[in-house]
Amino acid sequence: MTIYRLAFVSRPAPGITAAEISAIGESSARHNLELGVTGMLIHEFNRFIALLEGPLAGIEQLMVAIIADGRHSGIRIFLQQSAEARSLSRWIMWSDFDRMTMSAGELEVREEIVRAALASLAEIDAERHDGAAAS
Ligand SMILES: Cc1cc2nc3c(=O)[nH]c(=O)nc-3n(C[C@H](O)[C@H](O)[C@H](O)COP(=O)(O)O)c2cc1C
Repeated sequence: MTIYRLAFVSRPAPGITAAEISAIGESSARHNLELGVTGMLIHEFNRFIALLEGPLAGIEQLMVAIIADGRHSGIRIFLQQSAEARSLSRWIMWSDFDRMTMSAGELEVREEIVRAALASLAEIDAERHDGAAAS
């Protein structure tokens, strides 16, 4: 089955609390299961890095809510693609406050997505410098 894959980085709202992060985790675990969406939400180094995989309609529905969510800002989607298979079979939350246990395969996906997110953030920095040079 063809699935859709989307990943983004964003900035947590200043002063975000462990309770708010755990509320995001709870609603995500519930909705994503219902929508057939798997993936990972990493909250680390004052960033969110999220990977969502599943039916396009489910991902679109989630993104509408996520984009409107005041608990973060500066959302940058750095990956959008269709794929023949999921890279993760469940939805996982990894936070500075709450670290789930991951299998070796899941840790590998985590590394890949963090690497891609960092590359995207480096691009933003480069764009900023270009902009500064031009003005
Ligand atoms: C960085 C970030 C990632 C999120 N990821 C998801 C997600 O994967 N699934 C989800 O249902 N909600 C996610 N949310 C929460 C949604 O924006 C929204 O608050 C939630 O779906 C509302 O559901 P509820 O009213 O049932 O709690 C995320 C929020 C943030 C800030």
